[in-house]
This record gives sequence, C-alpha cells and structure tokens, in this order.
Amino acid sequence: MTKQHAYITTAIPYVNGLPHIGHAMDYMLADVWARYARQNDREVRFQTGVDEHGNKIAAKAAENNLTPQAYVDQLYENFKKMIAELNISSTDFIRTTDAHHCEAVQYIWRQLAAGGYIYKGSYEGWYCQGCEAFVTDTEAAENNGVCPDHKTPYQRLSEENYYFKTSAFSDKIREAIESGRMKIVPEFRKKEFLALIGNGLQDVSVSRPRKNLSWGVAVPDDDSQVMYVWLDALSNYITVIGYPDRTEEWQSFWPADVQVVGKDILRFHAGIWPAMLMALDLPLPKVLLVHGFINVNGAKMSKSLGNGVGPSDIVPHYGVDAFRYYFLRHVPTQEDGDFTWEKFEAAYNGELGNDLGNLVQRVAKMVLSYQAGVIGDAPQAEHDMGPYRAAMESFNFDRALAEVWQTIRSLNQYIERVQPWQVAKKRDKDPEAEVHLSEILAYACGTLLQVADMLTPFLPQTADNIRGLFASGVVPQELAPLFPRIYIHTPDPRGAKQAS
Ligand code: MSP
Repeated sequence: MTKQHAYITTAIPYVNGLPHIGHAMDYMLADVWARYARQNDREVRFQTGVDEHGNKIAAKAAENNLTPQAYVDQLYENFKKMIAELNISSTDFIRTTDAHHCEAVQYIWRQLAAGGYIYKGSYEGWYCQGCEAFVTDTEAAENNGVCPDHKTPYQRLSEENYYFKTSAFSDKIREAIESGRMKIVPEFRKKEFLALIGNGLQDVSVSRPRKNLSWGVAVPDDDSQVMYVWLDALSNYITVIGYPDRTEEWQSFWPADVQVVGKDILRFHAGIWPAMLMALDLPLPKVLLVHGFINVNGAKMSKSLGNGVGPSDIVPHYGVDAFRYYFLRHVPTQEDGDFTWEKFEAAYNGELGNDLGNLVQRVAKMVLSYQAGVIGDAPQAEHDMGPYRAAMESFNFDRALAEVWQTIRSLNQYIERVQPWQVAKKRDKDPEAEVHLSEILAYACGTLLQVADMLTPFLPQTADNIRGLFASGVVPQELAPLFPRIYIHTPDPRGAKQAS
C-alpha cells in the first residue's frame, strides 16, 4: 500500500549574513514534525531553503564589493551546512535564484494577471528594507518613522508599480482562518491576525521599478519592473515541489500539512500567501505553525550587540542533540524563549546527563553485571502515550518532551524504590529473586526503548544510541556515557569536592 503523503515547509531565511538560532528554530520545529510523521508511516516531503533576492541582499553584496549573485553563491552554503549540522531530515533545499523557481514565479505572475488580479498603480509611502515590507502611514507614525525591529528609518517611496488585488480575497481568507480551514496555531496569533485584518486586506504592491530594485525576478512583459521579493519568496513552497510543470509531483504533496513561520512573518503567510493560492485556484495550507522569538540573556539577538549564539558555539562541544534539546524543550514551541549559558548547561548536565544519561548507563550496567548483558523477556509495561501524543498533535513540542521526562523520572524513582542491587544480593538464597531481578531490568529496558521512540523526533542520535543498547536483547559490553558532564560556562560543582 502506498503511504499517505505529508508536506511540511520552513520559512526561507534571507542570505544576508550567517545563519543563527532564529533560523535554526524553523528548521528544528519542522524536523520534529517530519520525523514524527515518518514514525507514523507517512511519506514526508520537507522543504528548506534560502531567500536570495531583494534590496537587502543587494545592499549587503555591494558592501562586500560583490555582485548579488556572487554574494549569495558564497553564503548559501552556510545554511545548507547548518541544516546538515543540526541533523535536519529535509528532502529539499531551494534557492530563489534557481532557474526553475524563477520561471515558475513568472508563470505565477502571468496566472495572477490573467485572472485580473494584477493592475498597474503607483506607490507613495513608506518601506522598510530590513523587513522588505511596505509600511502604512499609521504604522510609520506609530513608530516615529523608525522600524522597531531593525532600528532603521523607513524609506519614503514614490514610484510606479504593479499591485496584487489581495483585497478581493479578504472575506474568503477571513472565513478560512475563522473556520480553521487554514488553522493558525497558536490561537492567540490567529486572533491577532484577524484583528489586524479587521478592515479587510489592502492590495499590495508586488513590483518595483528596476531602477529602485534590480535584484529580483523580472516582471513578465515589462522589463522596467522587478518582482517584489515576498511574491517571489512565498511561491517557493509550491515551486520547490514542481509547480507548475511537474504536475503529478506537486499535486501529490500540496496542500502543505504544516508551514512553520516566525511570528514576525505571519502577516505575509496569512495574508498575501492565501490570496495568491486562491488566485491560482490552489488549496490553502492546513496549518500555519507560528513560533516566537529567541532572546539571549533576555535581550533581542542582534549582530550589533554581538550576543548571537549559533550552532557552532554549541554543537562541537555538547553535540547536536544537546542543541536540539535545549531549543525544543526550553523554548516553548508557540511563544518566545530565552537562551542563557546557565540554563543551557543546567539542562545539559541535569536533564540530559543526569536524568537520562545516568539512567541509561545504570540500567545497561546492571544488565551486564547481573545477567551477562542478556535482557530477560518479562512482559513489558506499556506507558500511556496519550499525553505525549496530544502534545505532539497540538504542536506543543516542548510539552511532549516534558512528558518524556516524566517517564524518565518515574523510571528513576522506580529503580530507587525496587533497588535491583539489593534484589541481586538475595539471588543465592532465594530463587525467586532471580526472576524478580530479570523482570525489573526487562521493565527498565522496555521503558527506555519506549523513551527512545518518543525521543526519535527530537534527539534522533540519542534515540538510536538507546536502541543500540537495548533493542537486540543483549546489551553490548562497551558503554559510553550519552552526555558526559561539561562545564564550560558555569562552575563545575564537582570542582569544590575534588579540591577538598
Ligand atoms: N526571507 C524571509 C522569509 C521568507 S519565507 C517565504 C525572512 N527571512 S529571515 O531571515 O528574516 O527570517 C527567517 C525565519 O527566522 C523567520 O521565520 C523568522 O521569524 C525567524 N527568526 C529570525 N530571528 C529570530 C529569532 N531571534 N528567534 C526566532 N526566530 C526568528 O523573514
């Protein structure tokens, strides 16, 4: 039987610098979902990629004395590397400069125009290059003419361009969101967006004169205009799976099951994007999963503050699963979160090293020393997976991990209570002790295998390591700690003891 298809997408970051945790968040959340869907026997298509057009990138390239193409050619590999480094199981990586994508975007433009949704106009107003967004007068006034995210003054534009009639879809989009046909998760973001479009969607400018924006896809049949970067970028979700030419392929994956985006770009994904899809007569994505922002020591990450923390600060020292663990467990999936080295090392040494790592080591060692590594086949207890599944299915991945830790803590408590080492001592005199010990250890190994299954979407390597110890029925002789103690940024509590 063919597997049911599933499609998940991530926002494509601008290639105007190095990748950071914020970009990693999109990729990691999507990866959790993708791995979970595969565990549930679905065939998953998982898109990632980079956004390479627009003035912001052209400006950065100029600063570096490079053409935009040469600049993005140099930088995009860093994003690919990060995806590999974080063990992201994506199936696709799109660059918006790919020839197929550019041609497909021109096709999309023609379709919108043929439907009567594109018209020529002129734009007189504000623009934020950092956001690559047109800004209303009200918003500009509220922010005193300076973008609160980028701390740069808005540009004043007065130019000819083409508009996309987003307003024609206002009611249909509102209905799709309200009814949950395109579900916005979490609920409070849905409410926020519905409030934002209270008066309907405004038509958006979707091109700029070439003299003001030269780095982008050309507007078909009008060489004086270049497409607005968001029209180009949003299209990636369908062009990457073969729209419009590889019909069978894209039709078997679209609509996306989940599209992961950060809170700052929800408005593009819940406004222009569904309007484009409706104009193309395509179904809407089923879910927009909106994550929050990661702060570092309570402050917004920024290049000028120099407080950005990237995978390369963490992965080489603590391992990829430690990185994934912290951001998936300690940053609530649907809200803002914070990174500090104190919290990170506490989670690493306490939750990964102590709760999980020691437990695994301890159980494996007991099976080796009391039973020559052979795991008995006593009936295994089935833990209630309900709360874990409910958390996974409602996109509360942090809570799903908390559920796994519940199981881990219960097993630790169980072992403390039944004290297998005491049972082992009684084996000479009491033949039943042997059976009892075997049952205790089989139960512990079985529970750890279940823990491995629940960890698979989050910590794939660790899950494999645990399975490597317990799945074959014989524990291998060589045991390496899963998460050795590391104190680089916080004091080693063992230091004092060792010194005394
Ligand atoms: N290029 C657009 C997206 C186009 S999608 C068709 C863009 N790029 S971005 O580089 O600015 O952001 C990419 C993703 O990273 C977004 O989902 C954004 O929310 C996320 N993050 C960027 N900084 C972040 C944090 N500090 N914390 C969490 N995620 C944030 O927007």
